[in-house]
Parts: sequence; C-alpha cells; structure tokens
Amino acid sequence: MRTKILKLLRCHPEMYVSGEMISKHLFVSRTAIWKHIQAIKQAGYAIESHPRKGYCLRHVPDLLIPEEVVANLETSWLGRDISYFASIGSTNDEAKKMAANGKETGAIVLAEKQTCGRGRMAREWFSPASAGIWLSVILRPKLLPKDAPKITLLAAVAVNRAIIKCTGLATGIKWPNDIVFQDKKIVGILTEMNAEMDAINYVVLGIGINVNMKLDDLPVEMQTIASSLSMLTGYTISRIQLLAEILLQLEQLYEEACRDGFEHVFYEWRRMTITLGQLVDVSSTEQNFSGAAIDIDDNGALLVDTNHGRECVLAGDVKVRLRQEGIL
Ligand code: BTN
Repeated sequence: MRTKILKLLRCHPEMYVSGEMISKHLFVSRTAIWKHIQAIKQAGYAIESHPRKGYCLRHVPDLLIPEEVVANLETSWLGRDISYFASIGSTNDEAKKMAANGKETGAIVLAEKQTCGRGRMAREWFSPASAGIWLSVILRPKLLPKDAPKITLLAAVAVNRAIIKCTGLATGIKWPNDIVFQDKKIVGILTEMNAEMDAINYVVLGIGINVNMKLDDLPVEMQTIASSLSMLTGYTISRIQLLAEILLQLEQLYEEACRDGFEHVFYEWRRMTITLGQLVDVSSTEQNFSGAAIDIDDNGALLVDTNHGRECVLAGDVKVRLRQEGIL
C-alpha cells in the first residue's frame, strides 16, 4: 500500500493529491491512508499534508529503497528483483545464499551498510551507512567456469562507463577491476562463483562504490589510497541515479557479450585501463616482482614483461609506478 501511495504522489510532482482521491483509487479508508503517510514520513520522505488539499511529496530520501530504485530503472531484467537491507553482514554472502536457493539471474542485493563487507584477498571492505553503493548482482551466464573472469572485466567497464556518464570524472580501470582516479581507489569488485566442471551455476558480482564519503569518514589508513565520487567532484552524488545507470550499462554490455562474445568488453577495458603500458610492482601470494604491464590475455590475466621473461598474473595486487620512480 505504501508503494502504491508513493507511486500516486510521484505521478503528481510538487502537487497536492487529495486523501479522497487516493482513497478512491486504492480502495482504502482515508484514516488508513493517513496512517500509511505517517509511516512513509518515518522512512525519511518529506510529505506535506493540508487539511483540504491533501498530500504533496516534497522530498525523497537518498536511500536505496527498492521502489525508488525501480522508479529510476531503465533496464528490462537486471535489478528488477531487489532485496534491500538497512544493514547486513555482506551483500555477497546474502546473494550467494539466495542464488543457491534458486534466485533468478538479474536479481540484486543492496544494503545501506555492511558490517562484514569483504574485499579481494580476504580483505575488509569499509561500507558505512548510506555513503556508498554496496551491491551484489546474481548472474547465471552460460559460460565455462574458466571464462568467469571475463564477467568481472565486463562489470568494471560497465561501472566505469556509468561513473563517467554520471559525474564527468575521467576515472580509469586499474587491473584487474578497481576503478581509480589519480591512483585513488573509488570502486572495488569481488566476483564469486559456484560452478560444476563444465558449467557455471551462478556468479555473484559484488560491487562496492565510495560515493558520498568525506575524507574524515574514511579510516586514516585509507585516506591516502582511497577517495569518493563526492570528494572528487565537490558535490553530493545521487546514489539512486548512479545505481540505475550502472545496472543499465551492465545489462546492455552483458546482453551484447552473451550474444556476440567478449571482444567489445576487452576492447573497452583496454581503452579504459590505466595499467597497460606502465611499470608495475606486482605482489601475489607466490611472489613479488616488477616489470612492464604489456596486455591482458584472453582470460583477463595481466601479462608483465620482467628482466627474467614474461609473467602471467592471475591474481594479486598491482601498484602502478609513477614514471619517474625508476627504470627497470
Ligand atoms: C575489492 O577488494 O576491491 C573488492 C571489494 C568489493 C566490495 C563489495 S561491496 C558489495 C559486495 N559485498 C561484499 O562483501 N563485498 C562486495
């Protein structure tokens, strides 16, 4: 009922809608409507009430409430099934449970805050309330398990496109899938998969975006290596609009890749990356070395030329050296 009332109010922007009209339209008493309006206000919406004119929606809170997300969505199947949490351990953990229980491809999990947000290489992911987008997408691609990393590259391209479109910032992709601006991390992507030998059951694409944090909101150890979109642009970003754009870009790119293959994704990734052609320091669980990042291979692994030959990096951390920092 609350969703329906909000929908009616949204259809009449900056106008009063009478209690009688809502009541006739939704077949409920005016008293019931008044009670629902109080609950909607409690959720953070500003609704003006006037004894004769009715109700007018003045302000929508910047919360990732499913009704608000859907009202902004332009996708046909991605993000149409939303599980939303004010607080959760990790959206990826929740999405994995849901996927294991049969949740369809395209369903998403969103949270205002994560208490155990996870990053790559078993790191923590700082996810404070309502300052970022903490999103997990369930996908069921008809791919071989070995091809799953391509989905991560695709996600990085889609998110980067959306950020550029919504903010105008010239962000870039740092291998494998961080989105950075002047070497400061804005976005991290954690892809997890459940598969048989020859088929993927599901992929959970976990995307964390620092949207509206201020410098002081970041833990001290993050302040020199991370940033947020609002810090970089100087204004507050609408998380709903950015999320809607990300889902649209993701859907379009995913459909295109499923239909025509990943060639275009690789082309776009190479165009957007800040890693290729640079001197890099690689640290992985097995080894540390430096070299020139030459390209990515068909599986998204980074190819690095070192003094001892070519290394193929499947997982690890890559630091892009400033040019003057040294020649190999
Ligand atoms: C990285 O280490 O760069 C990846 C970070 C991924 C964070 C996102 S936030 C939403 C989803 N839920 C998680 O617990 N992690 C991912």
